[in-house]
Amino acid sequence: MRQEELQDLLNSMSLQEKIDQMLQLTGDFYEDADSVMTGPAGDLGVNEGDIRMAGSILGTAGAKKLKDIQKNYMETQPHHIPMLFMMDVIHGMKTIFPIPLGQGAAFEPELSKRCARAAAKEAAVTGLHVTFAPMADLVRDARWGRVMEATGEDTYLNSLFAEAMVEGFQGDDLSSPYQIAACVKHFAAYGAAQAGRDYNTVELSEHTLREYYLPAYKAGIDAGAALVMTSFNTVNGIPASANKWLMRDILRDEMGFDGVLISDFSAILETVAHGCAKDSKEAAKKALEAGVDIDMMTNVYAANLENLVKEGQVSISRIDECVMRILELKNKLGLFENPYKDADEEKEKEVILCKEHRELAREAAVRSFVLLKNDGILPLDMNKKIAFIGPFTDEKQIKSSWSFTGDDKDCVTIKEAAERVFDNRRTVYLKGSPVMGGDSGLVGFQPADFREDATEELTAEEQKEMLSEAVKAAKNADTVIMPLGEHYLQSGEAASRGEITIPEIQMELYRAVRAVNPNIVVVLFNGRPLDIREIAGKSRAVLEVWRPGTEGGNAVVDVLTGKEYPSGKLPMSFPYCVGQVPVHYNEFFTGRPNRKGMQERFRSRYIDIPNEPLYPFGYGLSYTDFHISPVVLDKEEMGLQDTVRAGVRIKNTGTRRGTETVQLYIRDVAASVVRPVKELKGFEKVTLEPGEEREIVFFIDEPMLRFHTASNGFASEPGDFLVFIGTDSTTENQAHFCLCK
Ligand code: IFM
Repeated sequence: MRQEELQDLLNSMSLQEKIDQMLQLTGDFYEDADSVMTGPAGDLGVNEGDIRMAGSILGTAGAKKLKDIQKNYMETQPHHIPMLFMMDVIHGMKTIFPIPLGQGAAFEPELSKRCARAAAKEAAVTGLHVTFAPMADLVRDARWGRVMEATGEDTYLNSLFAEAMVEGFQGDDLSSPYQIAACVKHFAAYGAAQAGRDYNTVELSEHTLREYYLPAYKAGIDAGAALVMTSFNTVNGIPASANKWLMRDILRDEMGFDGVLISDFSAILETVAHGCAKDSKEAAKKALEAGVDIDMMTNVYAANLENLVKEGQVSISRIDECVMRILELKNKLGLFENPYKDADEEKEKEVILCKEHRELAREAAVRSFVLLKNDGILPLDMNKKIAFIGPFTDEKQIKSSWSFTGDDKDCVTIKEAAERVFDNRRTVYLKGSPVMGGDSGLVGFQPADFREDATEELTAEEQKEMLSEAVKAAKNADTVIMPLGEHYLQSGEAASRGEITIPEIQMELYRAVRAVNPNIVVVLFNGRPLDIREIAGKSRAVLEVWRPGTEGGNAVVDVLTGKEYPSGKLPMSFPYCVGQVPVHYNEFFTGRPNRKGMQERFRSRYIDIPNEPLYPFGYGLSYTDFHISPVVLDKEEMGLQDTVRAGVRIKNTGTRRGTETVQLYIRDVAASVVRPVKELKGFEKVTLEPGEEREIVFFIDEPMLRFHTASNGFASEPGDFLVFIGTDSTTENQAHFCLCK
């Protein structure tokens, strides 16, 4: 439809029709019993007319179902406007890829783009038009359950992933086949919830917001994201969904976002609970003034906007502006011409879980794995007697709580994969313990959220029996592989944790096995950095596999056996213990920095734990070794128009092929505001055969040195800079140059 036609359409719509376009409900309002509930349920008080005319649905998928809903809707909608179908397709639709935090570990945005493209294709054939992804929130607090949905603690890395994922979902043209619209979320700073408690207050300076939190959203928006979602939290004391400064001044005016702004689930109404609106009517007014186009799952807009207009409290032009953006989105998706878009029952059979997508899921999983420790026990000696002992040995739920569109039954477990590869006369598989004991602590989850065996309440006798079988098997084995980790409901939305440890029942198993066999390789399934001091200290190897998705078991076996090798790098620091959290590599010096080895008292440090995390950002081992030469710069002084060439040589000094991620960090030595100890500014993945050597070069230009200055906006400042090139964020391999203006 041409813009003038859209304008004519808008002009011909009644106020009620317009307001209904701004309402989004879940599929259960349309008799879809399988619709997913991703927020508080309850009677919204929406009337029948609004339900019938709501402009979009969330949480429902399936080609046949959505085609039927669309057909009925368009028949009754006075102007035959098509409906939009949205869903959280976070790390895959049916073929599930590693969680975003795992994808971050691959340090390979192009790979994530391919995953997003495959997810978009599977989503599109089931009839979906929009995914609520990517989540571009910067995350620094491992207690927060949603760190699993982020790509980590680094602004630059997150920006690259946000851009890549948007491009993967959307392609070049939303109306072309198998593209779906992306929704960058949660604007803004949802990841900074105080103490890592979901939905909690956010308290950030504007400097920190702009310098570290906003860039990744901006990257997704610049990549063309069609939607943005508001966050639940306050920014500068005002809930995001009612925050005019954030939404109009920053998002629309400064960032130039002209797409659809959707609230998070019930977030407009929650401005009342926040204490920033006295009632639903005031909440509607504030959200509309902030420019929120769609109200997800409340009746705040539906119940109040008409009266607000009639009373002259809001102008009709504010409503028109929102509705036009919604119509434009429907138009960009080509829905006026083809309301069913890619929904196709035959294609569903062909595309979903196809060989190509499964292969991609396996590749992505392998690349997401981070080898945290290895004394040489990996890859496994296949002539040894091996015991797999742990609750994730044959566990099908290795996706996440944010992959409800996928089926557990489609996942390959470690046991299923290993049985095809290992000599079954010398290999045993035991669960050893449930994922969690009866004291799950998972408050508020419905019984249906749990698979029956996931939080077994074992009698003391049963537990003893399980343990003694495990101990017997461990005694008998040369090597014990222990697949351990978090319950899938321990991470994700509303899954903040005060203790970030492996469930105690599994630690009891670990200790019992360790007492009889020291040759332990831990394979860790989790959605966040954990406190793994004990297992890191006492195991011979630790392989972090996150929540690897559909092909998880195959990928784990590929890496354990050496068919593939690990190459992932941590996108988020693993704290020494929860007391350090939030801990991130790009911290500030403070006035009393505590450099390693310092023993003085009056320093910025803990008296009982180190300042350094257990494993830092950017860290990850390989099955081979690499040596990096000192950094060489081609100049010591750089003018504004110059480029500094920073080079190192990297050599594979081990005996196996491997991939290293060479990382470039920069420190601005003295500036008008304090600058991080170092900041990631580039990286390159390089694959080398044993003995092979290569030069890696980075070019540093003036824009890379810009930041939010004290009084000169976003700019660079002359002075000294240190350039670090190494294999993780602790590298001290450095050289110096000076920026002269
Ligand atoms: O997309 C999500 C969001 O991330 C959290 N609340 C619910 C939304 C829709 O499911």
